[in-house]
This record gives sequence, structure tokens and C-alpha cells, in this order.
Amino acid sequence: MKLRESGMPEETYWESLFQIELILDRLGIDGGLRDVAELGCGYGTFTLPVARRLCGTIETFDIDPAMVERTRGRAEEGGLENVRAQVRDVLQEGFGLPLGSQDACLLFNILHGEEPLRLLQEARRVVRPGGRVFVIHWRYDPGTPRGPSMDIRPRPEQCLAWGKSVGLRPLPPAPLDLPPYHFGLVFRKLAIDARASQESQRSRLE
Ligand SMILES: C[S@@+](CC[C@H](N)C(=O)[O-])C[C@H]1O[C@@H](n2cnc3c(N)ncnc32)[C@H](O)[C@@H]1O
Repeated sequence: MKLRESGMPEETYWESLFQIELILDRLGIDGGLRDVAELGCGYGTFTLPVARRLCGTIETFDIDPAMVERTRGRAEEGGLENVRAQVRDVLQEGFGLPLGSQDACLLFNILHGEEPLRLLQEARRVVRPGGRVFVIHWRYDPGTPRGPSMDIRPRPEQCLAWGKSVGLRPLPPAPLDLPPYHFGLVFRKLAIDARASQESQRSRLE
């Protein structure tokens, strides 16, 4: 199922709305990362710049075949061999990647969709213990030139609460300012589930 309000405007206009390299710098996306998964490649706006920084592969998925085609084409033109783009409904089917197989997962301009918790859970599942989930979204401000309707647009505090509820730990500073129109959040998947470990410690003491 295509996420609500996830249609795209024209490519050049969309890409004029972000300072892409600044966003990746502030999130800390660099050559220390190996394999990364992305939900919703769109035009490859972030896929390609991320691929250029990684030392591994970016596995990206979009429900719209035209978006996948465009991203593949741009990767090919740019000589990037570490981009794998596939058509997939990630909401219904998940990423189809093994548990803990990725260093990181990107949820960029996605969490206004239906079932954000399910998407965060799936992101957490594919990331290795200690790995990161990166989120960016439109500021909660009706003055931004694009972005989902205000009634479904999540505030940073809402995204933080969702992340914590699925076992992701926000890394400071949170939220990050990603001018002109976005905020960012970085979550870490705890190496061991803190609650499970407390419980097992308690049962050992009893
Ligand atoms: C708002 S765009 C964001 C694209 C990209 N992340 C970016 O920030 O440039 C959302 C993208 O998610 C894709 N999408 C929507 N529902 C999806 C689903 N269920 N599974 C995979 N992709 C989906 C849309 O086709 C669209 O390309």
C-alpha cells in the first residue's frame, strides 16, 4: 500500500528543498558505514549521495516502479555500483533483508505514513545491534513549501516517542536542525535489549 501523501513533485523542484550534503554531514553519515537500507528511494535524492559516502551497499526500495527506474538510471550514470534499487511495498512486506544485516536504515520523509511504529520496528529489525536508524522529516510548520498536511505531520517529539517505544535510543542532539525545512533524528539500536537484560538479571538473582 502506498503511504498516504507520499507522491512526489517534479524532481528538480524536490531537490531544491534540501541541503543534501549538509543533512548527511549533520546526521553523521560517512565512510564508517557499510551496508544501509532505505525506505522510499524517490528520485534517488539521498540514495546516490549516501552511496558515494558508504564503504558498502545501499539497498533501497520504493513501491513506485518509475522511482526505482530513475534511481537505477542515475546510479548507472554516476558509475555507482553499490546501489541496489528494487520495487517493493515495504509497509506490507518489510525490507526482505535478514535480521541485523545492516549498519543503518534511512527513513527520510516517510513517518507521516500509516503505521509509523511498524516502519520503525522493521527498520530496527534489519539494523545490527549498535547500528543506527536515521530519520528526517518536514518541520512542524505550515509555512514549509511542501510536506504532508499538518494533521498527519509528526512533530520531532512524536518521532522520538515512537522510536523509544520500539527499543531505539535517540542520540543527542535531538532533534537536529536541517535547514531550511527539515529536522533530523538519529537512533541507536541497543546492543542488548535493556529490559530483557534486567529481567534475566533479576531472574538469576532470585
Ligand atoms: C515523500 S517520498 C520520499 C522519497 C525519499 N525518501 C526522499 O526523501 O527524497 C516517499 C517515497 O516513498 C515511496 N513509498 C510510498 N509508499 C511506499 C511503500 N509502501 N513501500 C515502499 N515505498 C513507498 C513513494 O513512492 C515515494 O517515492
